[in-house]
Amino acid sequence: MNKATGKVGHNMEDFPLLSSGQLHVWSVNTNPTAELLERCKVALSEYELTRIPFFKFEQVQQNYIISQGVLRLLLGAYLGMNANKLKTGRQAKGKPISLDDPDIHFNISNSGKMAVYAFSRDSEVGIDLEHIRHIPDLDEMITKNFSTNERKYINASEKDRNSRFFRFWTIKESYLKAIGEGMRLAPDNLEFSIEKDGITHLSTRGVFELEDWIFKEFSPATDYVGTLTFMQKNSSIEYMKFV
Ligand SMILES: CC(C)(COP(=O)(O)OP(=O)(O)OC[C@H]1O[C@@H](n2cnc3c(N)ncnc32)[C@H](O)[C@@H]1OP(=O)(O)O)[C@@H](O)C(=O)NCCC(=O)NCCS
Repeated sequence: MNKATGKVGHNMEDFPLLSSGQLHVWSVNTNPTAELLERCKVALSEYELTRIPFFKFEQVQQNYIISQGVLRLLLGAYLGMNANKLKTGRQAKGKPISLDDPDIHFNISNSGKMAVYAFSRDSEVGIDLEHIRHIPDLDEMITKNFSTNERKYINASEKDRNSRFFRFWTIKESYLKAIGEGMRLAPDNLEFSIEKDGITHLSTRGVFELEDWIFKEFSPATDYVGTLTFMQKNSSIEYMKFV
């Protein structure tokens, strides 16, 4: 699995360009420094600022400020625009898009104390992250969401059962997010296999989807697993930490 490498600080002058053929994956700790929290607040739109008090717990407020604020800081840097002036919208099933530049594709995921972002100029992209944690009803979750073959893989190693479960989970979610379906399609309609040489999408019921998607697992920190789903073959993927 790929590890996150490289860091970009708050000096946006050395910000990496995003060209065709490249994919950028960013991770950020949502337990931030006071300075990052402030930068993110300044990046939010007026509407987003009015939403903050509706989150009851401080931790949830902070997660919201960081995950949306960093998204705006990154998009603003790619598009050369002020972060708080960016206009975003949603596709029919909820996938966020840029209204300033429809040719930049992005997706976001939060789990535990991290948020991750994927950006591409070539095709739709989906990303999903999970913090590997104890799941009380793991057996039921496995039965409900995975095919017979997927279950075999997950259950093959008692020690790795939890992490195998989350790896498969992020594969399914990142695919559902790449195609923009989100929660509209139940995960047991999808079947994937994880082999030494990569992840294969075996079948999907309920969606007319002819495209060939590529799946790459990554791990931005210990006990976190994620999958990136995209289309462009031979893309170079850069993993960076936002600090
Ligand atoms: C939409 C969904 C995929 C998001 O996943 P999640 O793990 O709850 O949350 P994440 O942090 O990973 O992603 C949330 C972000 O996804 C994006 N998103 C929302 N709808 C989306 C869609 N239809 N397509 C792509 N991205 C979407 C948004 O940016 C959202 O963040 P925001 O609400 O703050 O703007 C999820 O809610 C869902 O539908 N899950 C059901 C599918 C399922 O049961 N999967 C199990 C796999 S085994």
